[in-house]
Formats: sequence, C-alpha cells, structure tokens
Amino acid sequence: MTNLNIPSTVTNKELIDWVTKTAELCQPDTVYWCDGSQEEYDRLCDEMVQSETFIRLNPEKRPNSFLARSHPSDVARVEDRTYICSINKGDAGPTNNWMNPKGMKDILNKKFSGAMKGRTMYVIPFCMGPIGSPISQFGVEISDSPYVAVNMRIMTRMGTPALEALGNGEFVDCLHSVGMPLEEGQEDVAWACSPDPKDKYIVHFPEERSIASYGSGYGGNALLGKKCHALRIASNSGRDEGWLAEHMLIVGVESPDGKKDYVCGAFPSACGKTNFAMLVPPKSFQEEGWKVTTVGDDIAWIKPNDKGTLLAINPENGFFGVAPGTNYKTNPNAMDSIKENSIFTNVALTDDGDVWWEGMDGDPPAHAIDWQGNDWTPESETPAAHPNARFTAPIEQCPVVDEHFDNPDGVPISAFIFGGRRNSVVPLVMQSFNWAFGVYMAATMGSEMTAAAFGNIGEVRRDPFAMLPFAGYHMGDYFSHWLDFGRSIPEPPRIFSVNWFRKGENGEFLWPGFGENMRVLKWVVERSRGRSIGVETPLGWQPKYEHMDWRGLEDFTEEDFNNVMDLDRDLWLKEIASHDDLFFKLYDRLPKELTFIRELLVSNLWRQPEPSLASPRPNDKIEAPKAAAKAE
Ligand code: GTP
Ligand code: SPV
Ligand code: MN
Repeated sequence: MTNLNIPSTVTNKELIDWVTKTAELCQPDTVYWCDGSQEEYDRLCDEMVQSETFIRLNPEKRPNSFLARSHPSDVARVEDRTYICSINKGDAGPTNNWMNPKGMKDILNKKFSGAMKGRTMYVIPFCMGPIGSPISQFGVEISDSPYVAVNMRIMTRMGTPALEALGNGEFVDCLHSVGMPLEEGQEDVAWACSPDPKDKYIVHFPEERSIASYGSGYGGNALLGKKCHALRIASNSGRDEGWLAEHMLIVGVESPDGKKDYVCGAFPSACGKTNFAMLVPPKSFQEEGWKVTTVGDDIAWIKPNDKGTLLAINPENGFFGVAPGTNYKTNPNAMDSIKENSIFTNVALTDDGDVWWEGMDGDPPAHAIDWQGNDWTPESETPAAHPNARFTAPIEQCPVVDEHFDNPDGVPISAFIFGGRRNSVVPLVMQSFNWAFGVYMAATMGSEMTAAAFGNIGEVRRDPFAMLPFAGYHMGDYFSHWLDFGRSIPEPPRIFSVNWFRKGENGEFLWPGFGENMRVLKWVVERSRGRSIGVETPLGWQPKYEHMDWRGLEDFTEEDFNNVMDLDRDLWLKEIASHDDLFFKLYDRLPKELTFIRELLVSNLWRQPEPSLASPRPNDKIEAPKAAAKAE
C-alpha cells in the first residue's frame, strides 16, 4: 500500500477516508499533498521541463513562464462527454447528457482502477473565492497531472491556507485522472491523456456534490474548480440555497464623481468576457475620470445580503483566457497580465523562446514552432496557435484588478448584461422592461454559427444565459430559479442585452467594439442609477443617438448608430417564433411567465396590416344602399 503522506494537521475524516479510498482504487506510486508554495510550484515546473511537458520560455522575454503542447485530441472542453448524473433523469433536463449514478459509477470504478499506476497522485486542496468569505466553497482535487496542480495554483486559492481553512468542514470532491497509467518500464509522453474521444468522461453527481473526470488534461475538463465545481455543481447549491452561480464577468465602473458600480456580464465562450472585463475606456472618458476595473472574467457567484443587495465574488484567482486575437490593441491589460509567471498552452514558440499566436501585435514571425511542435512559417496553411490556445495568469498581475477582488464580502451588483454573437436582428443595446422580461431576454440569447464552427452558417444556437454547457440541472428549473430570485429581492438590478457583433451588408462589423463598448457601459450604468435617458420600444428601453456619449468617436454617425440599433419588426416576429424550438424542448418545466412574455412581445411588435378599403371607418358616411333597380 502506498504511503498516503497525510499531513499531521489534517483531521478531516471525510477527506482522509476519500484520499485513502482513492489511493487504493487508483494505485499511484506516490501520494503528494500540495502546499501551494512558490517553492513547490517552481519544483513541479522544473520537473515538467525535465519530462518535456513544459518548455521554459526565454526568461528575458517571459520570466518564469512555460509552454505546454497538448495532444491534438485534447484541445477543448468535450461537451458530448460531459454528464450530469442526477438521481432522476428529469432533473438533468434535455440539454444535458445523463446516466444513472449507479451505472456511471460502475463505469468510472473500472476506469479509475489502477489509472494512476506509475504516477504521483496530487492532493490539491483549494478554495473557490476569497478564503473566509461566506460565499466561498472548498474543494479538493485529486489528480495525477502535475500540469493540473500548477494551473490550479494560479486559478484558485490552493494549498495549505485552503486546507487549514477547510478544517473539518465540507468540500466538493473532484477526482481527476488523465487516463494513462504507466506499466512497469513504460515511458511517459509529454501530454498524457486518453486519446480516444469516446474514452473521456466529465461527470457530475449533483446530489453528492462530487465530480469525476477521466481522460482529458485540458482546461475545464481537468481544472475541476472551474466549470465543474464553480458552475455545474455550484449552480445546484445556488438553486437549493437561493443564490446564483453564473458564467459571468464582473467589472467595476467608476464615474468622474467617484461613484462606483459593479456590473455582471454573461457572454458565451469566446464571445468577449475577458475583453469586456478589462476594458480600456476611450481617451476622452479616461481624461474625464472614468475608470474600469476587473473583478473577474469568467465566473460570478452572487448572493443577496439581508437587505437584498446582491453581493458577488469571483470564485477564481486567475485567468484562463483565449490567446489568439489578444494583442495590445484589443486587450492591453490582458497582454500586461501575461508578461511573466504564466503558463501558455497550445500557442506557437518563436525562435527567440517567446510565444506567438494569430492576431498578436506586429508582423508574424518568419519562423516558429506551431502548437503541434512542427515548423511553421507565414506561408503555412495551418494556424501556428490552436484557435482555443489559452494562457493561465494570476489575477493580481492584471494592471486594473479591482481593489475588492479579494474582499470576502464581495461587491454590490447594479446591473446584468447579456450578450450573444448575432450578426443581425439583435441591436447594440437595450434594457428590459423589468426582471421577468430580462429573464426572457437572457433565456433566449443565442450565437450564430461562424465559418469556423460546424453547422449551417447563420444558424442560431440558443445559449440561455451563456449557461447551456454549464447549468448542472434542468434549464427550465434554472429559469424558474432566476424568476424566483428576482421576486425575492426588493430592488433587483436592471437587466440589459447587448450585441457587439452585428454586421452590415458587406460583412463588416457595424460597431467598433472593444474599448468603445465603454459608451454602452456608461449608458447601462446611468440607467441603473435611475437617470431616464432612453425611449420605449416594443422590446425594451433603448438609447437614441443623443442619449450616448460620442466624444472622440465623431465619425460614427447617427446613421451608423441607427443601423446598429435597428429593430426590424418582421425579423423580430420571426426571431420570437424561433424561440419556440428551445421552449418546446424544455416544455415540461418551462415557467409559464416566459410563455406570457412571449405573447406580450408579439403583441408589442405586431402591427395592423393596412386597413382594408372595403371596411368602413367610424367617420365614413355610410350611404344608404341604392334601391334595387326595378325589375323591368
Ligand atoms: P471563455 O473564456 O471561453 O468563456 O470566453 P470569453 O468570453 O472570455 O472570450 P474572449 O474574451 O476570449 O473572446 C474573444 C473573442 O471575442 C475574440 O474573437 C474577440 O475578437 C471577440 N471580441 C471581444 N470583444 C469584442 C468586441 O467588442 N467586438 C468584436 N467584434 N469582437 C469582440
Ligand atoms: C469556456 O469554454 O467557457 C472557458 C474555457 O472558459 S474552459 O475553462 O476550458 O471551459
Ligand atoms: Mn468560460
């Protein structure tokens, strides 16, 4: 039996039992408890350089930073291998894969049996959220991947402080294996995983608040504090306990008078949360004293206090951001956050030992090594970096990190913003009439397929609340939870819909986006403060051109604005008809409010066709019918 190396300070019986049971099942060579120290991080990174999982980047260009290249089968979350194993199938709902917990445990027991042979089993205690916050939760990940251990140190509060604060309390158990045991004498590979796409399992047991992940070492599949714990499991806790676990950024907005608001924003994966969370306001806004600060870029946990104020924390401690497209123009604060102490996965390696990806500033390098380890030149037909290449960086390195990001109390939320990727129909910004209309807006948000994705171009995939892959229970119940939540607080925050991605006839974006989104954010914040600058439309409140601050963007004309705000009644009637696809799917648990709101929206949009000439109007003189011609 392997020595469990349980630290003498650990008395949590549940934890000791679970580690003991897991070591027996997985049969690792050694068990190692992570303390989260810098020394430990450096040592694990050095070991991974030795084993060729990591390449140390040029310390002059990118101090204390590393590049990892994954197996080509292991580059993103695997939604089709992700399961919600609730006791009742109905509780998982039609948008999640389901299997009965007993059947799944039988499969997993076989998979995990001996799965860590030849490897070290890392016990990784972590806290999602500031240690000591009433909103935070503990987790312990057991993993056979040192890559996971060092990424978890950046992404969470990991190690001894978390373990001590956990004490004998409750934690979410997160079991992870790359699914590649090493037999006697078998040599390891740079990126261990189970290469068969059908041999990966990302499994959640919501009633037990536990997670098991097998076969992948990448991102949300393997860093189990992130999507698995902080969204799929936490959404279940939130529903039961009256709070929200959301796929949202949290941003602070300070106006020149020193007043500060915090706004949460939900956007689907790769639709601009990291950009918006670190937004750099246009020069004229900066000069006037507007400031934007980052609390989080991916996940928000939101709880009402006893007065009904919504307090939010970012459960994470770092960024796991999309690299391609990130540059000093689109996101300077992200570029500064990744100057050092960062891990890069699936980007390209330049000849001077630095990283590169498509869309980085300046000219592409004349030569690089691509994400698969092959020579690459600008003439190559394949991209140098994988489109889902990511950086892992500590949140403290963000130049505009909010002063309260680590505050255990959280920050008060004034508004929610929901934004999909729609090249038509949805206007730049609107404010919903009230909470329930806002829930409708968020429930029906969608993203159009791009040329890069499978499916028909222009086809809309509904992604309710940007939570389609992350809600750990029935999406209809999730909508009900949001409706109940709004009813339970005296003054719920305002809800807005935005769309940065609307395109003109020539296929160009109609809205400049990025830092210019500040203009929309200013309108949102001022509306939330109760300043009445907007007009009523059939779908909600919208600004007119003169209601927004255009200083520094004078060449964006009123006509341009009207194009990006246009609300076409006929297209919207079709859009609302298409919401039925989602509503019918969720029929058995769809809250009736949404059906009624749909009817109200239709009645707002519908217009009497041209009055028939044949029908009389009230003031028309009705002539007496002429006497029938006398019969001859
Ligand atoms: P996950 O980490 O996957 O949850 O996603 P995220 O929402 O953080 O995505 P990210 O910020 O990495 O999204 C990047 C994509 O959004 C890139 O394709 C950007 O070019 C695009 N993007 C971000 N902001 C804007 C904008 O204001 N306008 C336009 N047109 N594109 C934008
Ligand atoms: C997302 O896909 O929304 C992400 C990346 O934020 S991952 O952590 O891999 O889920
Ligand atoms: Mn995300």
